[in-house]
Amino acid sequence: MANEVYNKLLKCYGCFKEKVNFKPGVALVLGSGLGDYADGIEVVAELDYHDIEGFPVSTVPGHQGKYIFGYVGKVPVVCMKGRVHYYEGYNISDVVLPVRLMKLMGAEVLFLTNAAGGINTDFRAGDFMLIKDHIANFVPSPLIGENIDELGVRFPDMGNVYDKELRQVIKRTAALAGIQLQEGVYIQLTGPNYETPAEIRMCRTLGADAVGMSTACEAVAANHMGMKICGISCISNMAAGITANPLTHKEVQDTADRVAPLFKQLVTECIKNIYADKIE
Ligand code: HPA
Repeated sequence: MANEVYNKLLKCYGCFKEKVNFKPGVALVLGSGLGDYADGIEVVAELDYHDIEGFPVSTVPGHQGKYIFGYVGKVPVVCMKGRVHYYEGYNISDVVLPVRLMKLMGAEVLFLTNAAGGINTDFRAGDFMLIKDHIANFVPSPLIGENIDELGVRFPDMGNVYDKELRQVIKRTAALAGIQLQEGVYIQLTGPNYETPAEIRMCRTLGADAVGMSTACEAVAANHMGMKICGISCISNMAAGITANPLTHKEVQDTADRVAPLFKQLVTECIKNIYADKIE
């Protein structure tokens, strides 16, 4: 039986091949605060999500999304400007389709970024956290359903999702740049509501340091396909119950915007060093 999820992915790949002639080495998912990251890179092509047949586009009116192809230094990258979230109502297989497509484009390394709430009380809003592992059990696995053997095995190992060598490169890069970097476990919840204080205590008991509504499902799908993955969270706020303030999307955005220049610098230098270490 033809696999619907795989057929849709191949159709999207066909659209990409028709419209863009570019092979990325690194795939970058731009989270809050990094939205305009691509303005600073040498852009060679763009592909609007609306121009890819079957591609999940945001249901929010006026919400733009596109792939941007270009160079960070000498590194060929594809950037996802705008991602879809599970809370928007998509199937989880659609949520991870854009990341799967970037692997088909040729990207071997996936660099994930996001804004997240700080659970670890040693963290402060504005910190960056290198993701060393994740907890994804509160969202459905994107691998549920008939396995797509062309992408990966039925029961993939998840012992080194956030590649140890990439993490070393990122730590070295941050240290050299004098940018403080926390390290911890990211937990993905569905959202869209923020958590209650009791839920955050649960997350802490489970071993999570930061909480968000994306990323882990994308990492599961990419790991299934054999990509090398790394991720950095911008701690945009302390999670519910840690401070007395109610959480707002504005606080998340304001913090992400405030630290965006430093975040961009970190990501740029990491990409250059990852490429130097891993691909050349
Ligand atoms: N909770 C969940 N997701 C988030 C948060 C949070 O506190 N901050 C940014 N994304």
